[in-house]
Amino acid sequence: MKIKKEVNMCGIVGALAQRNVNEILLEGLRRLEYRGYDSAGVCLVDGEQQLQLRKSQGKVADLEARLHDNPAAGRLGIAHTRWATHGVPSDHNSHPHVSGQIALVHNGIIENYRDLRARLLGLGYEFASDTDTETVVHLIHSLTNEGMTLLEAVTAATAELEGAYAIGVISADEPQTLVCARSGSPLVIGVGIEENFIASDPMALRQVTDRFVFLEEGDVAQVSLEGIAVFDQHGEEVSRPVHKLDGGHDAADKGRYRHFMQKEIFEQPEVVKATLAGRIGAHTVLPEALGARANEILPEVKQVQIVACGTSYHAGLVARYWLEDWAGIPCAVEVASEIRYRKTAVRPGTLFVTISQSGETADTLAALRQAKELGYLASMTICNVPNSSLVRESELSLMTEAGPEIGVASTKAFTTQLVALQLFCIALAKANGMPADKEAELVGALHQLPELMEDFTGLDQLVKATSEAFAEKHHTLFLGRGVEYPIALEGALKLKEISYIHAEAYPAGELKHGPLALVDADMPVVVVAPNNELLEKLKSNLQEVRARGGELFVFASPRAGFASEPGVTVVEVPDAPDSLAPILYTVPLQLLSYHVALLKGTDVDQPRNLAKSVTVE
Ligand code: AGP
Repeated sequence: MKIKKEVNMCGIVGALAQRNVNEILLEGLRRLEYRGYDSAGVCLVDGEQQLQLRKSQGKVADLEARLHDNPAAGRLGIAHTRWATHGVPSDHNSHPHVSGQIALVHNGIIENYRDLRARLLGLGYEFASDTDTETVVHLIHSLTNEGMTLLEAVTAATAELEGAYAIGVISADEPQTLVCARSGSPLVIGVGIEENFIASDPMALRQVTDRFVFLEEGDVAQVSLEGIAVFDQHGEEVSRPVHKLDGGHDAADKGRYRHFMQKEIFEQPEVVKATLAGRIGAHTVLPEALGARANEILPEVKQVQIVACGTSYHAGLVARYWLEDWAGIPCAVEVASEIRYRKTAVRPGTLFVTISQSGETADTLAALRQAKELGYLASMTICNVPNSSLVRESELSLMTEAGPEIGVASTKAFTTQLVALQLFCIALAKANGMPADKEAELVGALHQLPELMEDFTGLDQLVKATSEAFAEKHHTLFLGRGVEYPIALEGALKLKEISYIHAEAYPAGELKHGPLALVDADMPVVVVAPNNELLEKLKSNLQEVRARGGELFVFASPRAGFASEPGVTVVEVPDAPDSLAPILYTVPLQLLSYHVALLKGTDVDQPRNLAKSVTVE
């Protein structure tokens, strides 16, 4: 079996109980909606041992409407949200796919589906969809026709698959069995009392259980009412531990907020505090902050290579400034989809650091797996999801404590990544001889962070008023200098992601090398302007914009000396220590994109074409 280590962002839920599981499956799908998808489906085995299949392009609500018109019930079922890869979003391409009495849901990509399809056509199978997935259900069906049980057929079929998969399979002929398997895509089994479940993410099952078995690469499992039997990639029955996940707050609840993104922006003071808790003393980063192994490894670090995607990549760019300034350690930062496809020269003593909210991003994971062959000193991940693939496969992990992030646009995950990175940079600088008074200054600032975060979220109404100037625009420029440049990049990413306004970010000093040609009265220019050593240089750059009729929106502290005037809107932000500015100035930019998206009426939490966990290459 050849396996390519990539996964896919669809959602799987399955249930076997002594009650109708339809609502459990639908609730599971609703909880997975944040991942991004374009169609949904469910299949149940009813009391007559018949498959009841309902599928719909669109949202889970469309599937519910279909179920309302044509109800289905059963004690065994599987359900799916699909993010199209092979075949357009449509009813017929939605999962579950069916062959005879067997139904299947799949996350991932089957790379040898063309060969399998040709073989199955030869056996007389007819295909109802354009998907790679449908080959798998016919393959399993063909094997049960040879007399295999469902478990045997799934085991034999998965041995033939090339690519990545997490699958859930049911047969109306075996109504007491739910079979699942994973390789390259995450899958968990939720353990209940005389009822058991499967899902691609534990969050889908938090309403029914808090106990989970995490399947490993190549595992096949048979789930019944009485228990779970797991077989490893060699077919040996193995015992996988049951993890109890703590209750936490229910992330699937928006509470008093209109959107998850809004809720997550306002949670930042609290989650930043949680990320610092137990990791800093009065004047120092505590030795236990990064763990015993980190304390052994950090003194050996001569260089750092950071790898991540999207917002997490921006967090890495910020860390580069901190590392080189405070620790004097060279740091390179690269997007995962680039580094994994080029030859890299690794110097001895280089620490490989990944940053990821989800811990499942395909490119970042692939880069980590590749790094293991390349002679890095060690691997470390900064991640928000315990038990995720990146955490399990990295030697060191530093968890952010953002709690589940549901909005596709990353907000609290980013600021907690910056907090964790700051702890890492201080610890590394300390191991490299940073004086105690510098550490005390940085840690002292971190103690002020939760309260300052609260003050910055308090800018909400001011930013809302400012957002009106953006709603009718088609292009925006974001400027920053130094460590604020990655914050400008992040601000531009947020705006384009959720309001669909084209936004670019530049280091302000680069303006005259090209982008100044774009500046006119129709292109608002957003400026991140803390009161630091680059302020005067930044002000000169802003003159260049004003001289071309560009309208400025400047986020600055009172000490920076900006004043609103025609063509210049100053959003005054609270004064803050330099070391915290990148974390804090992110907040008004998040609020800006949120309010602009509200004015534009876009889908804030699930912007078009995007998925929360980008688990395809
Ligand atoms: C940010 O708003 C994005 N949705 C996206 O760029 C995200 O940060 C990126 O896909 C990386 O995800 P990860 O942090 O889960 O690895």
